Amino acid sequence: MTTALDATATPFSTLIREASHQQHTEAETSPFMSEMLDGRLGVAAFRQYTEQLWFVYRALEGVADRLAGDPVAGPFVRPELFRTAALERDLDHLHGGGDWRATLKPLPATERYAARVLRVARDWPGGYVAHHYTRYLGDLSGGQVIRGTAEKTWGFTRKGDGVRFYVFDHIANPAAYKREYRARLDAIPVAAPEKLRIVDECRHAFALNSAVFRDLDEASR
Ligand code: HEM
Repeated sequence: MTTALDATATPFSTLIREASHQQHTEAETSPFMSEMLDGRLGVAAFRQYTEQLWFVYRALEGVADRLAGDPVAGPFVRPELFRTAALERDLDHLHGGGDWRATLKPLPATERYAARVLRVARDWPGGYVAHHYTRYLGDLSGGQVIRGTAEKTWGFTRKGDGVRFYVFDHIANPAAYKREYRARLDAIPVAAPEKLRIVDECRHAFALNSAVFRDLDEASR
């Protein structure tokens, strides 16, 4: 268990990474992720996954303006990370044009996930940071593995339509960017008990992602 003492002595970026390590492994090796990425589920599963991400990032980014001036969440709100526009281009491609917005519905777990993001964005900036970290630092890391696999498996143009979500055009050096991001985490202006709450919310964010994978898994069968 992570204690207030750990939260004082350990850099926050280390604390949050270590606290979510186990859940990261679970998400990475979940049946949906594994079967999607080894091609067993077909491109329809990738499309459905991308659709669910669209709901999540609309929640994360729809509140960005409001949080930009907040002392805790504000330093994380950066336009170079925004993914909604890229997801929309991917979805245009994956749907072969057409008005996908008119019919698209979130899966139940996605609805719960987006609702949680909106709730913390309204009431608790630290909680928003937990969700921000869980998605964007992941996209800058393992997201690159997913992109490579998707390009190979389904023949998308390298860094092109279909996988633009994984391409950060305005981040020249993702490894350096991740270091800066971790420095921002380490500088977060909150006390140890609040850091522990944020870590717990990060675990919650991972659990919400895993629940989306389970819904996607069911929907794919
Ligand atoms: C097949 C799926 C996945 C793969 C292959 C993968 C792979 C990776 C790798 C290799 C890293 C380490 C990068 C580094 O040390 O710089 C990483 C980091 C990360 N991943 Fe994933 N990941 C996957 C799924 C996910 C999911 C579903 C989430 C959460 C929604 C996630 C969130 C994160 C986060 C937050 C980090 C940053 C950890 C840190 O350094 O603080 N990943 N991932």
